[in-house]
Amino acid sequence: MEINKKVKRRKFISAIGLLGLAGVTPLSGFATAKVLKPDEEPILKAGPYLQAAYPNKITVRWLTNLPCYSYVEFGETSDKLDRKAHTVQSGLIEAFNNNNAITLKNLQPAKEYFYRIVSRVILDFIPNKIVYGDTYTSPVYAFKTPAPKAETLAFSIFNDIHNRPESFGHLMKYQGDTKKDFIFLNGDMINFATDENQVVNLILQPLSTLFATNTPFILSRGNHETRGKFSRHLNNYFDGGENRYYYSFQHGPAYIIVLDSGEDKADGVMVYGESLILMLTV
Ligand SMILES: [Fe+2]
Repeated sequence: MEINKKVKRRKFISAIGLLGLAGVTPLSGFATAKVLKPDEEPILKAGPYLQAAYPNKITVRWLTNLPCYSYVEFGETSDKLDRKAHTVQSGLIEAFNNNNAITLKNLQPAKEYFYRIVSRVILDFIPNKIVYGDTYTSPVYAFKTPAPKAETLAFSIFNDIHNRPESFGHLMKYQGDTKKDFIFLNGDMINFATDENQVVNLILQPLSTLFATNTPFILSRGNHETRGKFSRHLNNYFDGGENRYYYSFQHGPAYIIVLDSGEDKADGVMVYGESLILMLTV
């Protein structure tokens, strides 16, 4: 659904380009140029996708194309989403932001919950006047909190996808029918990090479409996630061990240790800057 919206938007932007030229040199037969209003932008950019699932809490993440006030409505049945969660930072409810990480707290273990995300566009945000635009409301999704004393655990591992997001869907055909507790991304999902759109197109959107609205995933950083100009921002999109890429946790019968794969080369090699700096100063 989101892909279609993007295609439409791309076509529209190219049409705007044509009409813009027409405005400089009026041509007969061209329609009046349509001005793109903020409310006509697709609000949802990626997600939702589940992170950091614990018996009593889980984090819902998503990105918007426009600054919004965003929250999660959730509950124990699909037709009664009677609880609401948003993020509070330093006494302020998070608003006018695009990157959402909202943790649903005080959950019960081994229980199914239903949720939907809501993003209300903020067109203008001055102290005495906040102007709201359109609101995006997602379909209702479901997830189940982990059971601390579960006797079994089921998960799939993806390794070395390397910029081939279509492989997620192909490989999932071979993982069997057992419902997975989580999906483990075992490093090198990308070749190197470039920007947010790359993270969206290669990881977030494919996984949300396949499973991440109802099954959490864990990103274990590989050496390729440490490379590229956006590598220092990747932790803004994933939740694991409190801003660390290495941590451990108990899940049912298993104790899981997530390692930061880091790099297989010395700090002074080209991809880590020192050699590059030397090259630039020679
Ligand atoms: Fe690799």
